[in-house]
Amino acid sequence: MHKSVLLQETIEGLRLTKGDVVIDATTGAGGHTKAILEVVGSSGKVLAIDRDVEALSIASNVTRGENVTFAHANFTQIEKVAKEKGFTCVSATLADLGVSSMQLTRPHRGFSLKSRGVLDMRMDKSQELSALTVVNEYSEDELARIFRNYGEEKRARACAKAIALFRKHESFKTTDQLAEVVRGVIPASYRGGKKIDPATKVFQAIRIEVNDELTSLESTLPQMVRLLAPGGRMAIISFHSLEDRIVKQFFSRAARDCLCPPEFPKCQCNHKKSLKIITRKPIRPTEDEIAKNPRARSAKLRIAEKIN
Ligand SMILES: C[S@@+](CC[C@H](N)C(=O)[O-])C[C@H]1O[C@@H](n2cnc3c(N)ncnc32)[C@H](O)[C@@H]1O
Repeated sequence: MHKSVLLQETIEGLRLTKGDVVIDATTGAGGHTKAILEVVGSSGKVLAIDRDVEALSIASNVTRGENVTFAHANFTQIEKVAKEKGFTCVSATLADLGVSSMQLTRPHRGFSLKSRGVLDMRMDKSQELSALTVVNEYSEDELARIFRNYGEEKRARACAKAIALFRKHESFKTTDQLAEVVRGVIPASYRGGKKIDPATKVFQAIRIEVNDELTSLESTLPQMVRLLAPGGRMAIISFHSLEDRIVKQFFSRAARDCLCPPEFPKCQCNHKKSLKIITRKPIRPTEDEIAKNPRARSAKLRIAEKIN
């Protein structure tokens, strides 16, 4: 089962109180949603969104009650969904990014490099693009680009070459086939002596591509701000540097009045700040949390407050 990351820190950082109206854009196993419901009480309400129907089914079992509304949607549609469900001008919004432990470890979801499942990696099973298409049909150049850009994999080209070579003889079907081919390419020296599977970065890159994770995040952050009432807070938990960079840069721009280049004598953009940054440095999990939940090790929580 999924263990919620930075749970207490998120609840405290959002400064929730009884009666608050909150949107959890990534309900997952319902851990954060449940904790939020406990604080906002029966006079508050929560909209819990996820693009994964299996997650919604788990979350709805964990958080029964009249003051939670579930929605199967991509958070890129958050403003539209919120309007449809009557959640406008909310007290707080949360996105706990990436995948849940259920998605990562259940072989039939096709994310796991430790077990054998059909290559899939779709958070939303109703979408067409899956890992099978990416691995079997993307050109060697396209694969190298995503391994470099989304996996920050130093041996991106070599991994793409090995995949293209394998495909000349047979198509990829399962996660273990792909993991084996990638492990064969990344020599021990590149593994940095860490106990991390050498295929991890390639798997991460394919997952990001399949689920369009970075573009989705970019288009969702401004919507999360617009949904907040003045004084409302948003919290984003990210799990790798690519996501965190997007959140950090977005907060930094939203917290500035003018975005014109410094050489402009006068402001021409008329950009007005909409956020106050609450966490100058991201909040990281404690050693104790990491020991209990190793998946938390790369988590970073950033919080900002709507100012107008
Ligand atoms: C880390 S888990 C959330 C765990 C949750 N906070 C908890 O405590 O149980 C991330 C969830 O976000 C969902 N997700 C990721 N990207 C999404 C998107 N673009 N739209 C909606 N849900 C998304 C995933 O399906 C997954 O269930």
